[in-house]
Amino acid sequence: MKANIHTEFHRFLHRQDKEHKLGQRGMVIWMCGLSGSGKSTIANAAERVLHQRGRTTAILDGDNIRAGLNANLGFGDDDRLENIRRIAEVAKLFAQQGIVTFVSAITPRGELRDVARGILGDDFFEVYVKASFEACAQRDVKGLYAKAAKGEIAHFTGKDSSFEEPMQADLVLDTEENELEDCVDLLLESVKNRVIH
Ligand code: ADX
Repeated sequence: MKANIHTEFHRFLHRQDKEHKLGQRGMVIWMCGLSGSGKSTIANAAERVLHQRGRTTAILDGDNIRAGLNANLGFGDDDRLENIRRIAEVAKLFAQQGIVTFVSAITPRGELRDVARGILGDDFFEVYVKASFEACAQRDVKGLYAKAAKGEIAHFTGKDSSFEEPMQADLVLDTEENELEDCVDLLLESVKNRVIH
């Protein structure tokens, strides 16, 4: 522990009390995969279903967080590490309130996923949203692949910055093989028993 910093241990109100009130257990559903693979689309659709079922949810989206909390970070290796560390720490705070928290962030290397796993422990549920670089480049929803091809984006993931396929994901959702609805169903089925109180 850092000198002169005293972590508050919530002696009077426990995580379990909050989870009991919400009728659910907090967890972090960590969606990783290439830009344009479908992480945010699946997270948003799954969140909507959970919300309709009465669950309390949140989404931490890499793009949005990079516009605020992480606006001072770029895409070099050190900055990506700091990006993921901060997102994982924020996600941990959410999970501790009993909230089902989706994270949508490329998280391109095993080392980064290990950092998130280390911070989140048992709350971490890793989902690899799988689509090839070529498929993502063809979709190119944000026009970034075209820009990267012209050399206009430094450190672009999958091009001049590495993407290591996750080897120990809790769930793999292949968005080239499956429709959005099927991915959402698969995801919700796999986390059902962890969310139910
Ligand atoms: S991560 O690698 O640090 O996990 P994160 O998910 O937060 O990345 O941010 C990725 C988003 O930033 C992409 O969806 C894309 O919109 C945007 N972006 C801008 N520059 C890059 C880049 N060089 N590589 C990848 N994504 C980029």
